[in-house]
Amino acid sequence: QTLEVIKTTTHKPKPDPEALGFGKYFTDHMLLIDYHSDKGWYHPRIVPYEPLTLDPAAMVFHYGQTVFEGLKAYKDHDENVRLFRPEENMKRLNRSNERLSIPTLDEKETLSYIKELVRLEKDWIPTAAGKSLYIRPFVINTEASLSVAPSKTYTFLVILSPVGSYYSEGIDPVSIFVEDFYTRAAPGGTGYAKTAGNYSAAYKAQERAVEHQRSQVLWLDGLEKKYVEEVGSMNVFFKIDGEIHTPEINGTILEGVTRKSVIELLRSWDLPVHERRIAMDDLIQAHQNGTLEEAFGTGTAAVISPIGILDYKGTEYTINNNKTGDISNRLHNAITGIQTGRLEDPFGWTTVL
Ligand code: COI
Repeated sequence: QTLEVIKTTTHKPKPDPEALGFGKYFTDHMLLIDYHSDKGWYHPRIVPYEPLTLDPAAMVFHYGQTVFEGLKAYKDHDENVRLFRPEENMKRLNRSNERLSIPTLDEKETLSYIKELVRLEKDWIPTAAGKSLYIRPFVINTEASLSVAPSKTYTFLVILSPVGSYYSEGIDPVSIFVEDFYTRAAPGGTGYAKTAGNYSAAYKAQERAVEHQRSQVLWLDGLEKKYVEEVGSMNVFFKIDGEIHTPEINGTILEGVTRKSVIELLRSWDLPVHERRIAMDDLIQAHQNGTLEEAFGTGTAAVISPIGILDYKGTEYTINNNKTGDISNRLHNAITGIQTGRLEDPFGWTTVL
């Protein structure tokens, strides 16, 4: 299909790079592709960024049939635009689509349109350290109907946002409340899909963490509340006695692209990585015998976010003296180095536009 491009005549001023925060500013254009059950996905187009007009009965508002993705574009020293493993995001988008009974998209074709959008908006990519252009693809059910069933019409959209750090802490450690009441996902549920409901259902637990003066939540499994699953909206890793442990992919945790990259990097450094079920009690025990050396979250938005304190059932466990650990620093440097083109990319993770 041919991509239609309608350019804006009014360009927004670029925000101050120091005041970006996360997801507050949006570029001048967006990408849309419509779906109708009679035609499949059709009419890919880049148009000026503007509000959408939707019927108030559009099913996305009522039953939350929607999925999203997140990836980043960087500009290197030679002004080349770089994407980090975008094929992985396209694959995951379709896994989420399948789980939510949304028709899948052609991954290659869709990615080529996203690249076109990013090329058009390349002047919006911030170049200062720690800053990038966040790419947010998403799909919504647009059919006006209150019957609870998948629909005939959907729209796929991509918006772009110049961003700084996700957490105000940056690469400094965050304190974590181990959530033992609310759960994020249950076996057979939507935990592995990037769908809105997983995030809105987490706000309540996040409020509880803040009430306890902690900045994020550590999620336990939905069945027994014994096993560690995720931290905030990130995957989680622990260094115990020199080896790295992370929860295995089991249907309830999100298959992070940063998670996958971290595992591949650590293994390339000859550090053993165990993907397994991790009991909270085992972490406490490791803490007590002094072998819980480091903990950190991984995600596209924050990249690596060290964990300095775990607050579990009223007891505070400090990790690595509440300092950023060696592995966290090394991973952060390696991943951001590859993403920005500052370091060589031996894995072929980078797409240069
Ligand atoms: C992440 O990149 O860590 C995310 O989960 C995206 C977040 C902005 C919802």
